[in-house]
Amino acid sequence: MAEIKRVGVIGGGLMGHGIAQVSATAGYDVVLREVDQGAIDKCMGKIQKQLARAVEKGKSTQEDADAILARITTTSDYGELADCDLVIEAISESLPAKLEMWKEVDAIVKPEAFFASNTSSLAIIDQAAQTSRPERFLGLHYFNPAQVMKLVEVIRAVTTSDEAFEAGLEFARSQKKLAIPTKDKAGFIVNRLLVPYMLDAIRAYEEGVGSVDEIDDAMKAGAGHPMGPLTLADFVGLDTMGSICDVLFDEFRERRFAQPPTLRKMLSAGWYGRKTGKGFYDYSGESPVPNPGI
Ligand code: CAA
Ligand code: NAD
Repeated sequence: MAEIKRVGVIGGGLMGHGIAQVSATAGYDVVLREVDQGAIDKCMGKIQKQLARAVEKGKSTQEDADAILARITTTSDYGELADCDLVIEAISESLPAKLEMWKEVDAIVKPEAFFASNTSSLAIIDQAAQTSRPERFLGLHYFNPAQVMKLVEVIRAVTTSDEAFEAGLEFARSQKKLAIPTKDKAGFIVNRLLVPYMLDAIRAYEEGVGSVDEIDDAMKAGAGHPMGPLTLADFVGLDTMGSICDVLFDEFRERRFAQPPTLRKMLSAGWYGRKTGKGFYDYSGESPVPNPGI
């Protein structure tokens, strides 16, 4: 089996920065591609902050943190991905954007390299089939925050070869993740179940069953969840949530996957959750407070 040593990560947002960090921590050389220097600085700032915190807490040595950082190189040039053995994309949840990106990358990266998508919802085959290597294409779905969450769903498209699928499982395990294989069905396992749950929380809010913080506090105290569903939606990013809903609704045509009106209005207002400072909560103060605008 082809050995993976050099990993390309495309997109350094919420997910990409975490995937780059866990890959470098597991000893891989990482090439991270973002759109411009501003996005690269933001991404590397987050990684540096987390590594510094691990050193402060005594969970890592300065030497190890420096070595992890030294294994990550950044670029806005697709050309630098040419020698990667595996390229993982973590750009926005938009099929046209992902296809445009793969067109560039497929033409540059060596033919024996594996390609993987971290998509939350899109069927993997829809990306795989548009590249010259559908048999070397799979899904590697990490969870937010990738540095902490144990799971990686390893998704096998109808075209994925045994070699590529095994390489994906082994890669996730080498990062000390729990690799769970899933079929290539929109939303896979976790989002198939988790997204309708978050959407139902929004509907419960719309129906006046409870306020934003009452719904969150109830699910934390009553179901043992680490975050309430509306806090979690803000954490995932409401723009990403909206895109996931559209993909799942389009696939299954079931009301439970449709965007509730409150979510649609929030997206129109540009309230994408924690990443923009406003979502179900307002994050501008010392601690989050329910957003009075919704
Ligand atoms: N990035 C990196 N590391 C983070 C982090 C972040 N955003 N937030 C917390 N951490 C780390 C902390 O550094 C800390 O690490 P150490 O134990 O090594 O010190 C650890 O996580 C615990 O952090 P805290 O004590 O500050 O906070 P916590 O105990 O409340 O845990 C949490 C934070 C892990 C995020 C927890 O609240 C949680 O599990 N929330 C639910 C997350 C979840 O459900 N994610 C899945 C979302 S769905 C998805 O990802 C799929 C999709 O396609 C949309
Ligand atoms: P994000 O908006 O935080 O980050 C996306 C990043 O991609 C941005 O920094 C943007 O500048 C960059 N980008 C866009 N086009 C690019 C290109 N052509 N080349 C390089 N960089 C590019 O989004 P995110 O939350 O990190 O989501 C990324 C992917 O991961 C999506 O497919 C999403 O569905 C999936 N995902 C998200 C979560 C989550 O909780 N947010 C969890 C698992 C999977």
